[in-house]
Amino acid sequence: MLISAGFYQFRPEFGQKEKNLSLVEDRLGQADADLLVLPELFATGYQFVSRSEVMDLSEEVPGGRTTLMLQDLASKRNLYIVGGLAERDGGNLYNSAVFVGPEGFIGCYRKTHLFYEEKLFFSPGDTGFQVWETKIGKIGLMICFDWFFPEAMRTLALMGAEIVAHPANLVLPYCPKGMPTRCLENMVFGITSNRVGVESRKKGESLRFIGNSQVISPRGEVLLRGPDNEELLGVAEIDPELARDKRLNEYNHIFRDRREEYYR
Ligand code: ACM
Repeated sequence: MLISAGFYQFRPEFGQKEKNLSLVEDRLGQADADLLVLPELFATGYQFVSRSEVMDLSEEVPGGRTTLMLQDLASKRNLYIVGGLAERDGGNLYNSAVFVGPEGFIGCYRKTHLFYEEKLFFSPGDTGFQVWETKIGKIGLMICFDWFFPEAMRTLALMGAEIVAHPANLVLPYCPKGMPTRCLENMVFGITSNRVGVESRKKGESLRFIGNSQVISPRGEVLLRGPDNEELLGVAEIDPELARDKRLNEYNHIFRDRREEYYR
């Protein structure tokens, strides 16, 4: 079954949650798609300077403002949405992504591999990698820097993911080139949704987010790539079933050929 899947790459304004949410509501409200992925921390911005700042902008999942808005949008538009947010659970803060669909709240993933100063503000994720079966295919989540660890996508693929949704706030240049290999070696679709813009909230440190959001096929082909500094809502037609067959030729099956006894 062909589905339309893609990303909304944009320029969130730090701390302007209502403004960012209403922009997303407006753009996704007009989109014709089955699955859309939003960036990491898409409603709050990224460059926090204190833990109390994260606490103030964080939300409970499910039930918080951002998750409820996405649920409402998903139900009105008959759409699956993945988006990153700062999650509060008691005294703990997580860099999380929620997954919602026409049927409501589906799940939440807490980022496993924290990047740089995220380590000052967030707890490392404790959900592990998860894959959800939906009407449009089996969807797994990872967040930004998780891509650097091949084990993350491998785990999702071994769990049956056909599409890996990947909210991101990339600042290093490597991911757009690296993700096609991740997708090829696991024969899964990948959708990276990265933001654009600059945040300079810390003296002497400006973060420029590199855009280049992508939809990638199980053969490692870049089906769609966003610009490096502009907003784009981009959608590609994909068939998630293509990610089910892990045979490369009549002799090679990329999962059955694994020699786990030699790996560590
Ligand atoms: C990142 O993990 N936000 C680079």
